[in-house]
Amino acid sequence: MMIRNTVTKSSKRSFSVLSSLKATEQSSSKTKSTKEVKYENLSEAQRAYLSRVIRVDQAGELGANYIYAGQYFILANKYPHLKPVLKHMWEQEIHHHNTFNNLQIKNRVRPSLLTPFWKVGAFAMGAGTALISPRAAMACTEAVETVIGGHYNEQLRCLNNQYNLDKSDNSGVGQTEEVKSLIANIKQFRDDELEHLNTAIEHDSHLAVPYYLLTESIKGICRVAIWGAERI
Ligand SMILES: [Fe+2]
Ligand SMILES: [Fe+2]
Repeated sequence: MMIRNTVTKSSKRSFSVLSSLKATEQSSSKTKSTKEVKYENLSEAQRAYLSRVIRVDQAGELGANYIYAGQYFILANKYPHLKPVLKHMWEQEIHHHNTFNNLQIKNRVRPSLLTPFWKVGAFAMGAGTALISPRAAMACTEAVETVIGGHYNEQLRCLNNQYNLDKSDNSGVGQTEEVKSLIANIKQFRDDELEHLNTAIEHDSHLAVPYYLLTESIKGICRVAIWGAERI
């Protein structure tokens, strides 16, 4: 119900989203086989929600990138055993960020206007928790990935439930290739984030001091950041 409201609210905004995507669909359909499935057009609300997903996920992955950059900057030389662990997670965030950057450009979604704040805030969060201790850095990762994993799951529920379009030959309903591809990317990234969450726990995030203060305040910051990046 909440997800449906989200889509309805967004319908009032005017975005030039996915126009390039539609153009690509139209031009490529001429060259592809005649068996290609065609669907009804996405509604204004559906397009608005897609642009919102791309904007917030691009901003979130940018933030994740900077969090790991901050952690790596502080911890990599002092704790060599953490270097490959942080590097692996950071590299996955770079891939996530690049993917949403490309989607943002392809679909002409404007970036969040708060992007400079996401960069500074995220780096400060990564470096600041790392300065407290490696366990505090892991508690930061645990909190961030808990919120992001849940947020990706919400998006997956909405995309899976609200984007089943009628086929133009009246043979049923289905999802466009673009929506299927977005769902596949978000699923993969959600799994990567949950892997980061497990890594943080394996590296004693629960033993961080002060654990609850750190994790609960970081979760709160992440929720506010998501709210802001979706809208501003
Ligand atoms: Fe990520
Ligand atoms: Fe992550």
